[in-house]
Amino acid sequence: MVDAPSDSRTRRLAGATVLVTGGGGLVGSRIVAQLASHGAHPLVLDSFDAYPHAVRDRFEVDRHAAEVVLGDVRERATVKWLTGRADFVIHAAAYADVAACTRNPDIAFASNVHGTQTLLDAVTETAVKRLVFVSSASVYGDGTPAGDGPARFTEDRPLTPISVYANTKVWAEHQVRLMLEGTGTEHAMVRYFSVYGDPQVPKPASHSWMVPWMAMSAHTGRPIRLNGGGRQVRDMVHVDDIAHATILALVTDEMAGQTVNVGTGVPTTVREIAELIAAHYPGAAFVETPRPEGDPLGGYADTRRAAALLGWQPGIRLADGIDRYVAWLKATPGAVPDWFTAPAAAGAAVLAA
Ligand SMILES: NC(=O)c1ccc[n+]([C@@H]2O[C@H](COP(=O)([O-])OP(=O)(O)OC[C@H]3O[C@@H](n4cnc5c(N)ncnc54)[C@H](O)[C@@H]3O)[C@@H](O)[C@H]2O)c1
Repeated sequence: MVDAPSDSRTRRLAGATVLVTGGGGLVGSRIVAQLASHGAHPLVLDSFDAYPHAVRDRFEVDRHAAEVVLGDVRERATVKWLTGRADFVIHAAAYADVAACTRNPDIAFASNVHGTQTLLDAVTETAVKRLVFVSSASVYGDGTPAGDGPARFTEDRPLTPISVYANTKVWAEHQVRLMLEGTGTEHAMVRYFSVYGDPQVPKPASHSWMVPWMAMSAHTGRPIRLNGGGRQVRDMVHVDDIAHATILALVTDEMAGQTVNVGTGVPTTVREIAELIAAHYPGAAFVETPRPEGDPLGGYADTRRAAALLGWQPGIRLADGIDRYVAWLKATPGAVPDWFTAPAAAGAAVLAA
């Protein structure tokens, strides 16, 4: 989807220049496409090293952006030049894979901490009206085990990150607030729950992005892996809905200085997600695998604040979003990365889902 719902708030974006860091990734590219459909001029800063070229091409970022800069968010001069031209900033660039951050905390620190600081240093010297920081539900930590039912994460809950990735997001949230409060640049935080939607592809040795992992496993005749038995709870939110909520956070007056969850408010177990996918592949099998380090038991979003402040609610039900994903997978030659089916990937895939 490119034509996003528009209202009097998004109409204010017509002619505005919006810098989207990480605009070459899954979420960022969808934000860029929706911004363009509102008549804004998106600028993209992305290092373009999260995916191979074929995947990047499917995100179609060049088609929607006014300008695309291949660079790192830590490059001070580049960031200064781009923020100097921007009316708004959406900071979505991150080393965005939980398992990779655990393996490479130095890279996580460089992109997610040092990169955020570089951007904030630049923004404080500009006339940027508002910066939206893209955070994650991982800041809430583990959630509660079954018994009392799945945890519902409310924004004011204490933050107890259990992974390197989550810790970088907690730091960045605080730093955005500390550096921008009282300046001419407003800030807002969006905490995404689990994002999915075509053309998402898995990353090697990752346990995130479970819809692509599971769908590609079934698609290639491999068993769908259920880490920890698939009892973890997730709140799955479609990338189109995520992009729409993020843009509303940019232009809604009431969001100044606020933090909102972006989720559906619907808890779904990993096993239930697997079953929705398996329904498209008769004969699909499941295999139980250990729960990886940093993989939270999870929970679901308290969506009251997003509804009250943004007037936003998700438009795509999980079953429909999975139908769309599987249809895309079946219709897209080469969608499954080569490494996914290579024998050497077998060990990496143990971590998946
Ligand atoms: N996908 C999810 O389920 C999810 C959930 C919660 C939060 N988030 C957050 O949403 C944002 C977008 O995630 P995504 O799923 O689109 O991941 P993604 O990997 O598809 O996109 C991230 C983009 O950031 C870019 N990037 C990384 N480090 C960079 C750097 N130092 N300089 C410039 N660009 C850099 C990458 O090249 C990539 O294009 C991230 O901040 C992520 O932490 C994602």
